Amino acid sequence: MQTTSMRSWAKDLRCWARGSRSRAAYSRRATCALSLTILAFGTVVSAATATDAQGPTSERIIVSGASGQLGRLTVKELLARGVPARNLILVSRTPDALSEYAQLGASTRYGDFSKPESLPAAYAGGTRMLLISIGGGAGPRPQAHKRAIDAAIAAGVKHIAYTSYVAISRGDTSGLASDHLQTEEILKKSGVAWTMLRNSIYADILIPQAAKMLADGHVTVPANENRIGYVTRQDCAAAAAAVLSSPGHENQAYDITGPELIGQREVAAAASAVSGKPIEVLAADPKAPPGPRGFGGPALSVTSTHVADLTGRPATSVRTLFAANKEKLLGAAR
Ligand SMILES: NC(=O)c1ccc[n+]([C@@H]2O[C@H](COP(=O)([O-])OP(=O)(O)OC[C@H]3O[C@@H](n4cnc5c(N)ncnc54)[C@H](OP(=O)(O)O)[C@@H]3O)[C@@H](O)[C@H]2O)c1
Repeated sequence: MQTTSMRSWAKDLRCWARGSRSRAAYSRRATCALSLTILAFGTVVSAATATDAQGPTSERIIVSGASGQLGRLTVKELLARGVPARNLILVSRTPDALSEYAQLGASTRYGDFSKPESLPAAYAGGTRMLLISIGGGAGPRPQAHKRAIDAAIAAGVKHIAYTSYVAISRGDTSGLASDHLQTEEILKKSGVAWTMLRNSIYADILIPQAAKMLADGHVTVPANENRIGYVTRQDCAAAAAAVLSSPGHENQAYDITGPELIGQREVAAAASAVSGKPIEVLAADPKAPPGPRGFGGPALSVTSTHVADLTGRPATSVRTLFAANKEKLLGAAR
């Protein structure tokens, strides 16, 4: 019964995939999608039973926004942890960009939070999901995220991990934190098991900053600078993969940070150490008007051990990140 259902479902997936080559062809795939959705309900019930008996790697894991930077890194981390490609459902507005994973056996599907009708077929058969927050320019984010959460639950997903924002843990409700806080509340109220991956600011953005310091030979540091627990995108992906592929993370919030608080002085010191070039650190005029708030704020001055706790390896320091990108830094310093 389960085998017949799976075969039938696979046939419909192929039907869906053939039709997914162009967004313009979307409406012509409606019948295919409806058929897939109906079949998936039966499959989800039997797949969930098998999962309970066999352990977490038999979960069928959805990654939303799978073609984005964090999405791709998370897929690689899941595969590195031994999750079979056939257990991955990679959803994107551009599923053709994920063909390398389709070749490995992953299911790659079209899904767009702003087209809710695309989501039932996209999520069919999934049991766990990584909901990657969409960018701020993509319309009201909490509403878009709610559409994804509702569709995932309707498709049978039992556990959703969401890429949230670390400042929430320190009570920030403004700016960027507002969208993430609203999404966290929607997720908690939905009744599905949740995990909040409260990511800090990506340390990767420090590479061009360090390159500029090296090119200039100096940096000016404001007196009241807030130091931030920057985390690499790679560590965010590794933490997400750990949560998706191992048990015990239901209804937990994790602060996904680097190992240290970093300001301009620390960036300059690490860039100098890795490149061998001096960077003069200048104190800003205390009477100068404050710059724009940007990401900085005391609520980002957070470090935790959660990356190491989840992944079993230490969170990446800024110096290690720079060492791995030495050529980029040296190119700027020449
Ligand atoms: N911690 C930080 O410093 C930081 C910095 C920037 C952003 N972020 C947040 O973290 C998220 C992931 O970061 P990233 O570096 O991977 O960003 P990214 O490369 O820009 O990826 C964003 C992903 O969001 C997905 N997306 C956008 N609009 C969508 C829609 N309408 N429906 C479904 N999916 C949609 C895209 O998926 P597809 O293209 O595959 O459909 C894209 O892959 C960002 O979206 C943002 O919310 C965090």
